[in-house]
Amino acid sequence: MSLAPPLAELPNQGLPRHVAIIMDGNGRWAQQRGKMRVFGHKAGVQAVRDAVSFASRLGIEALTLFAFSSENWRRPESEVSALMELFIHVLGSEVKKLHKSNIRLRVIGERSRFSERLQKKVADAEAMTADNTGLVLNVAANYGGRWDLLQAMQRLAKDVQQGLLVPEQLDEEMICGQLTTAGQPDVDLLIRTGGDHRISNFLLWQMAYAELYFTSVLWPDFDEVAFSDAIASFASRERRFGCTGEQIRALLAQSD
Ligand code: IPE
Ligand code: IPE
Ligand code: MG
Repeated sequence: MSLAPPLAELPNQGLPRHVAIIMDGNGRWAQQRGKMRVFGHKAGVQAVRDAVSFASRLGIEALTLFAFSSENWRRPESEVSALMELFIHVLGSEVKKLHKSNIRLRVIGERSRFSERLQKKVADAEAMTADNTGLVLNVAANYGGRWDLLQAMQRLAKDVQQGLLVPEQLDEEMICGQLTTAGQPDVDLLIRTGGDHRISNFLLWQMAYAELYFTSVLWPDFDEVAFSDAIASFASRERRFGCTGEQIRALLAQSD
């Protein structure tokens, strides 16, 4: 839900329901070791496994991982194709484990630019885990926050064109319902590793009220301790959603 909730329905600050991570710093991690950038991407796979397992054990509802942005096609051809190969390989090797852990995998992003082979792997992996009821794992691949909004607008515009909707009826909930994360809570906590302080066209709409957490840890080094630190920082912050601090504290006192 992106609509500002009535005061009485504001969530208690405990665990985040939806965590999104910009997994940055693989290239630098490899370069620090005198290796090719792709070595860092491969090392990053273990950090992905650990983060997914941790989020799942914590009982977080949704985890969205930024794996490849719509801008990452600008990288050298060799790096892009190595990343695609890695993606295919990891999907093949991990999906059964995800399924066993009751995790529902979704790949969000514009898939048409992927090879047929990758598109098929993605569709099969999603189908296998579709009925799982545990963590929802969104892997953002060829994803851009502006693209997500654009494709939502295009679908709504079609509804208007077909006379199913008049523009005045459009509301925030309808837009949420057409985004790739439809049905999932808004992002509560955004983590970016690698030391940069920017959003890089990730989930723009969904992060409207997210707490932002930046760490200089490079992605392959992001372990359970680093993830716990991010969660602890989230839990210690006071989210005000436009209210005053007094209003929030009164609300928390009522629910104690
Ligand atoms: C993030 O690490 C992974 C992808 C974008 C695929 P980078 O490859 O951006 O690593 P740095 O930022 O160059 O260190
Ligand atoms: C953001 O990292 C995208 C992913 C982690 C997939 P980048 O390294 O591509 O972001 P910029 O270019 O530094 O903004
Ligand atoms: Mg980077």
